Amino acid sequence: MLDLTVCIGSACHLKGAYNLIQTFQQLIEEKSLHDQITLKSGFCMKLCHIPGVGVMVDGEEHHVAAEKAGEFFAKEVEPKL
Ligand code: FES
Repeated sequence: MLDLTVCIGSACHLKGAYNLIQTFQQLIEEKSLHDQITLKSGFCMKLCHIPGVGVMVDGEEHHVAAEKAGEFFAKEVEPKL
């Protein structure tokens, strides 16, 4: 089971964390990946100074622009399943 955590701290909230979570949820649903990915929200990951929303993929730090959610999912999440 892969852990996908999106930061919902105030800086990331302003950078589109909510949209990112919605896109990830939609992709997980469309691709029937419920039994392979645990999508969670988390508090500040201390990545606020970096552009994009803080995201952890199995403990690995990333920062993702909300509009690049689909691209990120295909490149960094799906290959790890
Ligand atoms: S608020 Fe998201 S990394 Fe700090």
